[in-house]
Amino acid sequence: MERLASLKVAIVGAGYVGLTTALALAYIGHRVTCVEKNAEKLLLLKSGKSPIYESGLEKLLRLVEGRVSFTGDIQEAVPEAEVIIVAVGTPNRTDGNADTGFVEKAACEVSQVMLDGHTYTVVIKSTVPIGTSRRVAHVIDRVLQERGVSPRVFFVSNPEFLREGQALYDFFYPDRIVVGAEHPEAVEVLRRLYRPILEQTFEPPDFLPRPRGFPLPPLITTDPVSAEMMKYAANAFLALKISFINEIAGLCEKVGADVTEVARGMGLDPRIGPLFLQAGLGWGGSCLPKDTAALLAMGQEHGYDMRIVQAAREVNFRQRLRAVEKLQEALKGVRGRVIGILGLAFKPGTDDVRESPALDVIRILCERGAHVRAHDPVALENARRALSGLEVEFFSDPYLLAEGAEALLLATDWPEYRRLDLCRLASVMRTSVLLDGRNLYDPGEAQKAGFLYLGVGR
Ligand code: UDX
Repeated sequence: MERLASLKVAIVGAGYVGLTTALALAYIGHRVTCVEKNAEKLLLLKSGKSPIYESGLEKLLRLVEGRVSFTGDIQEAVPEAEVIIVAVGTPNRTDGNADTGFVEKAACEVSQVMLDGHTYTVVIKSTVPIGTSRRVAHVIDRVLQERGVSPRVFFVSNPEFLREGQALYDFFYPDRIVVGAEHPEAVEVLRRLYRPILEQTFEPPDFLPRPRGFPLPPLITTDPVSAEMMKYAANAFLALKISFINEIAGLCEKVGADVTEVARGMGLDPRIGPLFLQAGLGWGGSCLPKDTAALLAMGQEHGYDMRIVQAAREVNFRQRLRAVEKLQEALKGVRGRVIGILGLAFKPGTDDVRESPALDVIRILCERGAHVRAHDPVALENARRALSGLEVEFFSDPYLLAEGAEALLLATDWPEYRRLDLCRLASVMRTSVLLDGRNLYDPGEAQKAGFLYLGVGR
């Protein structure tokens, strides 16, 4: 029975999505081969190391040794596979739309090595513009015709809803699994692929216990276009929700309300819910900015104005500027001032600094002549690379960063920062302004410690 349940899976791309998917599918019993073109990453993976900082990934890598293999050669992974998952990047083009070049290239390479008479289910897991599954199908069909072979190929859109920092959790314990397919047979293959997750019959990894009372996730079947749209719409709504509370935060500051109290009260309405109502520096990362830009671009392609999504982006990016203006006001100008930034990753739990609000604030402060110091528990090296060319000093100790500084900005709410000794920080600073960009601290405690405390929306 076990053998029947196990599928041969090829995964193209070992990034946040591809690697998480490869290891989790191997863990629940499938035989996985992961194709990674980047030689450096491949070397790390072959030596049991994860090229990305994602909690639990390295532990899982060790647990599934022997059931997942890594290669740079698609020829080794695809011909015998039953399921082929495309999880390569879809970076933004200058017009904002997602560039599906890597996806189409992967599809082309995959179709070059498919075997006559085999049945393949090609799964697009990358976040792709609406209609990409159709394009991929055309690319593959054309190559197969040129080669004169005719394997049976099904196409499925299976968007991922993984959050960075909680990717494994979201894979093993999803809210839903979405399958966009035109053939019922393809749906059945995906049902087999995810069965242990749909039925929650797998033994949880000891570092990732099953939440008590976790409800069995539904498998939603729909057409590929709706599946692709579902992903964009979900991310755009999350972005919108955050921008909404940030807009309310701005008004709270004017009228003296406390946005954290407002959010608490709002969130008790089950139609609103408490999550993603945390006012702060706004959203960053490799998804929300990219997906909202892609939605706008898709709208433009169809002469359709996505005004709410546009507004969510504008409010989001204005948060960065408002943080600088607050520092400007508190310090009577930032030129020549020593300002320490605590937190560089776009959110806690990851080393990813893509579109990080902290980095945008640092760029503006540097432009305005501030002396910027920066700290992050794990993203320091990525930030150093992303900020190359700017006069930023990097510190591995927040207390050293604070010595002689005139203001601190808490930009990423890492738990480590909650444990900082605020009195000690304030005592070594030249002037002790604290802009709490994520409302992490208790204003009263910060003031008692000697800070001029500034929050967001309170
Ligand atoms: C997001 C979606 O949550 C996930 O479902 C999708 O698959 C990928 O994109 P991710 O970008 O990893 O995940 O991070 P997320 O946890 O959503 O946070 C995104 C940004 O919003 C971060 O910069 C975070 O700091 C910010 N945020 C989040 C807020 O500012 N306020 C909040 O209340 C929540």
